[in-house]
Amino acid sequence: MQNKNYYITTPIYYPSAKPHMGHAYSSIVADVFARFKRLDGYKVFFLTGTDEHGQKIEKAAKKNKKNPKDFCDEISKTFKDLTKILNLTNDDFIRTTEKRHSEAVMNLWNKLHKNGDIYLSKYKGWYSVSDEAYYNEDEVIDRDGKKVSILSNSIVEWVEEESFFFKLSKWQNKLLEFYNRNPNFILPETRKNEVISFVKSGLKDLSISRKSFSWGIKVPNDKKHVIYVWLDALTNYISALNYPDTQSSLFKNFWPADLHLIGKDILRFHAIYWPAFLLAAEIEPPNRVFGHGWILSDKEKMSKSKGNILDPLEMIKIYGLDQLRYYLVKEVSFGNDGNISNENIENCINSDLANNYGNFCQRTFSFVEKNCKGIVPSDVKFNSDDLKILNSISNNINKIRSLIDDQQLNEYVKFIIDKSSDANKYFNDESPWSKKGDKKRLDTIVYVSLEVIRKISILLLPIIPYSANKVLASLNLDPRTLKLSSITDHLINRSGTKIINQGILFKKINKNDD
Ligand code: MSP
Repeated sequence: MQNKNYYITTPIYYPSAKPHMGHAYSSIVADVFARFKRLDGYKVFFLTGTDEHGQKIEKAAKKNKKNPKDFCDEISKTFKDLTKILNLTNDDFIRTTEKRHSEAVMNLWNKLHKNGDIYLSKYKGWYSVSDEAYYNEDEVIDRDGKKVSILSNSIVEWVEEESFFFKLSKWQNKLLEFYNRNPNFILPETRKNEVISFVKSGLKDLSISRKSFSWGIKVPNDKKHVIYVWLDALTNYISALNYPDTQSSLFKNFWPADLHLIGKDILRFHAIYWPAFLLAAEIEPPNRVFGHGWILSDKEKMSKSKGNILDPLEMIKIYGLDQLRYYLVKEVSFGNDGNISNENIENCINSDLANNYGNFCQRTFSFVEKNCKGIVPSDVKFNSDDLKILNSISNNINKIRSLIDDQQLNEYVKFIIDKSSDANKYFNDESPWSKKGDKKRLDTIVYVSLEVIRKISILLLPIIPYSANKVLASLNLDPRTLKLSSITDHLINRSGTKIINQGILFKKINKNDD
């Protein structure tokens, strides 16, 4: 039997500064998958949260003249508030400063130690506080008299200190075997190839404790060390499932995770370190890690120093939440970088939401009000054109499911919006206004149009939940009880449903307005 549980995670965000559009993007996309799977009858666990330990946070707190915990409380709250603002359906919000988490991390440490995968030595090498990452000599270059990482451009510093190490090198071949057995573990494919060649080039043991600062979870039995923030942070994916209680129903139902959705910059941690830690602790690795691209502002990655941070709240204020959600999902090629601009979002809202889907709903609802007393007609007879448009959605349910399971988000949106264009064309071609002498034909065209609205709106629910809910409510349908599988029937009408026309769905943006 198919496993009907689904576990999806976002990265846990550093509360070093308030959230920006890149964070919003990761979260929105994860929410789309979570909502789709719930709609398809899955029991979903959707996790997000904040990553609160380490030198980066300690430094940021100091800069703000706060103690790290107070600082984290304050900024973590802005991330938690954002989950509401973005209308996310996360089932939990984990903070790594919570006891349930630190206990899980110490437990995992002890397990790795017991299994012989941890030893004490000395770390000598480059470290980026901003990435919380160690870099090899060949990953660092000189720029303007400073040493920076080639991969991230962030400044690195030389670190020499006693450190506990994880025997990563021991897991090199096991990891390669694991990638081989699970060819879709890392997606997209290009990212997978990068990871595999990195692993093949030889893995060195990984420093997993720091001694020169104190903001972190202490190493059990050696309190002078704090646990490396990435070992700490990655564990959130299981601490939220009650690890080390692997018999708890949360853990049993949801581990291994179906999808860790992350940005491409943190792939190495998720696709190499994380499965290696898990294999060493005799825990099954997750099923998939998908590395999405960056949201670019003025064609560059957002950063405080460049002053090009895009604030999701500003964009929502101007355009609306569903509009922003739709835009990010539709216009950013999933897996690649995507540039955001006002002109772009305005075009997208006008062409897809206002002129296409919104217009189709609006014209159909008005027509039903004027010509069918606002009631879904019941005496209908489908001809081949009607069945063609209805079935073009219904018969594709398995394709739709695969698009989501393969994270082909853009294809999913394209499918929906194409159907909406087809529907507008159908309405024009069939021109129900010219069928006033043939009531049955008129009724049938109206019925088919409403039915297509119903199906399209169900498919749009994961992306634009407020608006699609509104449309479905107009059709007197309760989205809480709707299932994806209902797009395969053509049964919108349950004894003369009354349509409640709620007016304009998406306001068109007049580009001449300033
Ligand atoms: N705390 C770590 C993740 C630990 S997960 C166990 C971290 N945090 S972060 O706040 O710096 O980044 C969180 C996520 O946001 C990452 O996936 C990162 O790729 C993503 N983004 C940060 N800037 C981004 C853009 N400009 N665009 C898209 N995503 C970006 O890394």
